[in-house]
Amino acid sequence: MKNDLNQYLNKQVQALPPSGIRAFFELVIGMKDIISLGVGEPDFDTPWAIRESAIYSIEHGHTTYTSNKGLLQLRNEIAKYLRGKFKLDYDPENEILITVGVSEAMDLAVRALLNPRDTVLIPEPCYVSYSPIVSLAGGNPQYLSTRKEEKFKLRLQDLEKIKGAKPKVLILNYPSNPTGTSYSKKELEAIAKTIHKMNLFVISDEIYSDLSYETPHTAFASLPQMKDRTLLVNGFSKGYAMTGWRIGYAAGPRPLLDAMTKIHQYTIMCAPIMGQWAACEALKNGETAISNMRKEYERRRNFIVDGLNKIGLECHHPEGAFYAFPSIQKTGMDSMNFAKKLLEKEKVAVVPGTAFGPSGEGFVRLSYATGMDKIKEALLRMRRFIKS
Ligand SMILES: Cc1ncc(COP(=O)(O)O)c(C=O)c1O
Repeated sequence: MKNDLNQYLNKQVQALPPSGIRAFFELVIGMKDIISLGVGEPDFDTPWAIRESAIYSIEHGHTTYTSNKGLLQLRNEIAKYLRGKFKLDYDPENEILITVGVSEAMDLAVRALLNPRDTVLIPEPCYVSYSPIVSLAGGNPQYLSTRKEEKFKLRLQDLEKIKGAKPKVLILNYPSNPTGTSYSKKELEAIAKTIHKMNLFVISDEIYSDLSYETPHTAFASLPQMKDRTLLVNGFSKGYAMTGWRIGYAAGPRPLLDAMTKIHQYTIMCAPIMGQWAACEALKNGETAISNMRKEYERRRNFIVDGLNKIGLECHHPEGAFYAFPSIQKTGMDSMNFAKKLLEKEKVAVVPGTAFGPSGEGFVRLSYATGMDKIKEALLRMRRFIKS
């Protein structure tokens, strides 16, 4: 008799649905001549000086573990960056932890904060991993829906009206994946007041902070009375085009950082040393390279949003990140159907909005971290698809 392996598997993991993005991209594998606006990954190579610093570190034999918290040199650079950019003071010895991307920092944060069944509020549409990592940590993810009419911003009335178990944590992400939405300082101050009233702790995923266009980015922790109740999470994947290096960081109150460091030291030990040296170089000398990439993304954003609106797919103006999130409601199709048909007929891959939560129904996500020629061709194909 065949052994049923399911009997050994963890029930929580079995109950998790697979990522909606993955499920869709299974369809793309093996298809030829696809224009993919699907992946949330910069199309630029990591700037050369950053790559060179990693090569240099390998040549000089830097091939060991680092401190569990990460290279002190990198933590010092991060502290300097956060002070210079957001007037935020963190002690590099105790209040900053280098992680394997923002992904690990988010996972450590929920594991260090949650007791079984604690509620975590998550405005959606949102990045695909938030709800699963909360479930895996034994918590209770509770979505807060947002709407296009309000540019997918968190509604304070919804936050204040929460029913059921008292929530403990709110996950914020701005500029947002998948909507590109960001907040002005004034809007964030209003959110902060409510958070204070509700005694929530905030995990603020600001991975796209360097890709803010018109509105300068305000770090949530820099708002009055928020530093003690916020974990600031950021990394190098997006702004510096360093997805493969797997370097992120968390900055926040020492007791939380100590708790996260415990989990990190038993599970990961430390982030890869070459990536940490590369991240040091990125912070020291990467400003011009980032600013050039940001300008190019902004140019593409203007082009793609304008193009989508012209072909009848209403699209709000995303303030940051590299995603457009147009409505496809006028076509009468649901998001999955639209994305599948567009792929079959015109070989353009976009992500169905439902991959990011229920409020994503009626929308698709297009990444403009893709060359301008491809964006132009994709828009032509989409126009033909809609006309047909
Ligand atoms: C909002 C958001 N957070 C976190 C991540 C993961 O980032 P990292 O590569 O640093 O793990 C992504 C990647 O797409 C993202 O969009």
